[in-house]
Amino acid sequence: MSIFADTDQTRAWEAHLRTQTAPARPVPLPEGNALIDALQFLAIPDEDIADIVALATRLRSGSPLWWYLERAVWSLASHIGDIDAPPRFAALNDINDPKYRYFYVLVCVGALPYVREYHQSKGIPDAISQATLVDLGRNVRVHRKREGIGGLGVAWWLMLHFRGVIYQLGRLQFEQVWLGDNIAASIQADGGDASPGSPALSIHIPDFSGPMTPAACDESIALARDFFPTYFPETRYDNAICSSWLLDPQLKQYLRPESNIIRFQDRFNLVEGGWESNMSIMQFVFGKTPEHLNTVPRTTSLERAVVEHLSAGGIWYGRAGWFQLSDT
Ligand SMILES: CC(C)(COP(=O)(O)OP(=O)(O)OC[C@H]1O[C@@H](n2cnc3c(N)ncnc32)[C@H](O)[C@@H]1OP(=O)(O)O)[C@@H](O)C(=O)NCCC(=O)NCCS
Repeated sequence: MSIFADTDQTRAWEAHLRTQTAPARPVPLPEGNALIDALQFLAIPDEDIADIVALATRLRSGSPLWWYLERAVWSLASHIGDIDAPPRFAALNDINDPKYRYFYVLVCVGALPYVREYHQSKGIPDAISQATLVDLGRNVRVHRKREGIGGLGVAWWLMLHFRGVIYQLGRLQFEQVWLGDNIAASIQADGGDASPGSPALSIHIPDFSGPMTPAACDESIALARDFFPTYFPETRYDNAICSSWLLDPQLKQYLRPESNIIRFQDRFNLVEGGWESNMSIMQFVFGKTPEHLNTVPRTTSLERAVVEHLSAGGIWYGRAGWFQLSDT
């Protein structure tokens, strides 16, 4: 039985993999100490390393999954720096599969030399390169917070890092994107210079990194204003965007106006319309979607807000927003 879910996404990915060929200079998956070094460089938690090494050994010894591993790496390598993404990694049948839950960690390790070479070719400082790529280890920890064991349920997210289109600059991450129709229309309606497909920077907020104080966000945005013209001078980024539960204005009914989340919201012009985001907010606040709301902690004002709102029949929404980088 395949370790991948039986879905159209998997079939599209497999069809894509069949078109992939080895890069001009193929770099083998590291072995022995070199594999440990790579995993430590990527901040993989100590408790996950032995299982990842064991999986690498199994895959090398005649597993049919080696074919997938190699081509998934080649796909990232051939799309380095491409904002347009290759087909998403197929989801695992079981993200907690006892034998294969780290499969995509190894894909990222295989892609590491290619993305490092890309960063170096752009002159991107080593510290920024590593600060960006350690999101792999962080997301293995996020998996443990959500599922109780290590893994990488959000393997698709790491496709950004390992093809070189997202950078961590201080507290925030900045993803190179094309503007979608709705945000572009909202910017235009405000007199801004944007059209669908214009380049923009999409802001993300990593977990396990402490509060996102206004000062830390100011610093990150200032870093981004310098970083992209320096290392990507061919592209002009006029606008920053964000799409997240963090921008749901309903949070204003519950959180203090001076809280970091509300101060973050205040930076953005909101785009009309939203999408149901109950699961996302629960995962980011409680780790896991709880079976019963009365079992979750209500220690912080945000925890109380999430429970109170849902218990009253409310819905949390993801919202998109933007601001002009030159205004900050
Ligand atoms: C985004 C994040 C850094 C905001 O935290 P923050 O800077 O402390 O935010 P605020 O100052 O607005 O917090 C307001 C209150 O909510 C609490 N709070 C904030 N995030 C919380 C979280 N994820 N879980 C539980 N409580 C949280 C704060 O402790 C504070 O509590 P208090 O009023 O009782 O003292 C934090 O939620 C986080 O790390 N989230 C995970 C990553 C994430 O959600 N990214 C966005 C993905 S789309």
